[in-house]
Amino acid sequence: MKAPVAPAPDAPVFRTRITELFGIRHPVLGGGLMWLSDARYVAALVNAGAMAFMTPRSYPDLAAFRQALRDCAEQTQGRPFGVNLTQSRRASENAWMHAWIDLALEQGVRHFETVGPSPGALFDRIHARGGIVIHKSAFVEHALKAQEAGADAVALVGTEAGGHPGTNELPAFVLGALALPRLRVPLALGGGIGSGRQLAAALALGADAVLMGTRFLVCDEVWAHDDYKRHLAAQPAEASTLALRSTGNPWRVLHNATVRETRRMESAGANQYADFGTLATGRLGRDRGYAEGDWDTGLLSMGPAVGFADAVEPVHRVMDRLMADAMQGSVRLAALMSAAGA
Ligand SMILES: Cc1cc2nc3c(=O)[nH]c(=O)nc-3n(C[C@H](O)[C@H](O)[C@H](O)COP(=O)(O)O)c2cc1C
Repeated sequence: MKAPVAPAPDAPVFRTRITELFGIRHPVLGGGLMWLSDARYVAALVNAGAMAFMTPRSYPDLAAFRQALRDCAEQTQGRPFGVNLTQSRRASENAWMHAWIDLALEQGVRHFETVGPSPGALFDRIHARGGIVIHKSAFVEHALKAQEAGADAVALVGTEAGGHPGTNELPAFVLGALALPRLRVPLALGGGIGSGRQLAAALALGADAVLMGTRFLVCDEVWAHDDYKRHLAAQPAEASTLALRSTGNPWRVLHNATVRETRRMESAGANQYADFGTLATGRLGRDRGYAEGDWDTGLLSMGPAVGFADAVEPVHRVMDRLMADAMQGSVRLAALMSAAGA
């Protein structure tokens, strides 16, 4: 069999329902990253052919979020970019949800990633003004409910996913394989994905895209301190662990001194977020881990896909390699079939 001709680095390699729905070159979604998916990061992924989602909750007020949307629009020069709408368990933290949606729509955003219970009302508000929604969850049943409520696509994230994968303990590929026969809408699969071979495998499984977070944390365009990113780039997959399991809302993070401290507190009976005080707040990680590079302090969202990162480098280089490896993975399948005479 002839060796495949490598496409130009930014040429489309795969066309899927999600590349069509999101107007993107590559079937790769950069999930919202609290504190980190700002205009520069989102624009870098979008300009490299993916879709990515800004997190409005990371901004102190609506004016700051509006400015970030404008900056992103300028940096992406008309390419679509998205907004993440994470519904908090604390109702008071969702007070600006409708304002975030309206503001994003006013600024021309059409692509949204929703997370959290009963998202139907959010879908209606977004659809009424021509928007498109992918709903992310960690349970097949939740994905099916979102489909019934009108989601345009769903994302399923396995227990490997950095951040809050819920109480689900199933890996991404089990969730995907179980869900696909029951889904009509396209599926993006996430959790632990950091190589192009996994992208090819997800497409072979029947997914229309992958959704990634951790693999991009070491990129130049992430504003976190260089010491933090260099530390992550040196970590193996095993450096990721689930913290705060006792609370029923576990958090997949970098294993560090804060995790050890929360475990000591759990052995002494702590089992509510409030029991851990400032240790369980995202702000501690933002101020010490991200801003100062003190990777031992704070619960710092990160999954085992960190094992695929070995250098701090620009987003486009990670994306180029991802797509080249995905193509090699697909070529391997085709070669195996042709060897069998299929
Ligand atoms: C640093 C970090 C912050 C995150 N913050 C959010 C968030 O605010 N909202 C959200 O929906 N998902 C959040 N996630 C989850 C990602 O959007 C995505 O679902 C996940 O990273 C995919 O799994 P992976 O980390 O194994 O690639 C976060 C993940 C990381 C690593």
